[in-house]
Amino acid sequence: MAANKSVLVLPGDGIGPEVMEQVRRVMGWFEAKEAVRFEVEEAPVGGACYDAHGVSIQEETMEKALTLDAVLFGAVGGPKWDNVPREHRPEAGLLRLRKDLDLFANLRPAVVMDAMVDASTLKPEVVKGLDIMILRELTSGVYFGLPKGEQTLEDGTVRVVDTQAYTKDEIVRICRVAFELARKRSNKVHCAEKSNVMETGVFWRQVSAEVAKEYPDVEFHHILADNCAMQLIRNPHQFDVIVTDNLFGDILSDEAAMMTGSLGMLPSASLGAPDPVTGARKAMYEPVHGSAPDIAGQGKANPIAMLLSFGMMLRYSYDLGREADLVEQAAQNVLNEGFRTADIMQDGCTPVSTEEMGNHLLAELDRITA
Ligand code: NAI
Ligand code: MG
Repeated sequence: MAANKSVLVLPGDGIGPEVMEQVRRVMGWFEAKEAVRFEVEEAPVGGACYDAHGVSIQEETMEKALTLDAVLFGAVGGPKWDNVPREHRPEAGLLRLRKDLDLFANLRPAVVMDAMVDASTLKPEVVKGLDIMILRELTSGVYFGLPKGEQTLEDGTVRVVDTQAYTKDEIVRICRVAFELARKRSNKVHCAEKSNVMETGVFWRQVSAEVAKEYPDVEFHHILADNCAMQLIRNPHQFDVIVTDNLFGDILSDEAAMMTGSLGMLPSASLGAPDPVTGARKAMYEPVHGSAPDIAGQGKANPIAMLLSFGMMLRYSYDLGREADLVEQAAQNVLNEGFRTADIMQDGCTPVSTEEMGNHLLAELDRITA
């Protein structure tokens, strides 16, 4: 049996607990097969934690997040907490996790499974077989740069400022993640910036080229971020890993995501720096979607984004590539067989609830490992 893997499970609000429950069943499946043992600690986060403890995340939970191997996060938020004081809002717990764990590398895969080709708004021949990774810098750039906010000039003019700023180290570490990822994929990196009009763009271009020299075996390209947005729609197959700053990454990752169909299908991972001794990275895995209050409690949520996030945890935190492949294969097969939650329903398919989707996933795992 593989060594124990510890994980902090934070289901959160709305559909968070519903989709997490299906992942817990899949964890149970792996344990029953003795492929791996999970040491699970679970805690409330977001609105659920505010209701129980008056804060969006507890200090003891933060401590666990910092010491366990990985964090698996559902989703937080909902109208119930719209009027909660800002520092206790459900999102505050999520932002605290990202900040304190220094999760600077946000991985957003955009994979088009064969069964979902027709769900994309793009032509089937453009998206069929698509498998790209958008790597977004998550802890710096214009969302955090100072000065920020309103200023009043001497003549009384009011202006508002955001500041785009990057240090060399911040660019180096995200670029290294990009090249290491590419080595495990199709060996190609594009770095997207605006070196034609932004000083930080020139810096990104220069520093990424320096890092590229450490990885002579990986194909490397610079691309202007606006052109990248166009090329993603025109011919996304030219890309493997796209690395970019916080702002462009926010936009390009949403664009890439939508090529694949539904929010309910999209996983993500956020990684921190490697530990200098063990090489292990702090990491959090979460679906891209939110708590979906409009369908919460109705058994309608698609658990696949959460499941694929768990798959990324197996791959990136536990180095269990084979198990991660199994999870992805099971999801693909179930979709190929035509089982669909409402968000991805297509003509001729069989509608299933969240739990039924879980049943089919477990049956499929049994089948492909029999
Ligand atoms: P959302 O992602 O929760 O929902 C958008 C739409 O997609 C809804 O119609 C929803 O029903 C559908 N949807 C999302 N996930 C689905 C799934 N797994 N299966 C089937 N359908 C799914 O985004 P929205 O509505 O903007 O936000 C709702 C709440 O979630 C807000 O309180 C927001 O702040 C929070 N939120 C939390 C995030 C997080 O925890 N990381 C991320 C985004 C939003
Ligand atoms: Mg966004």
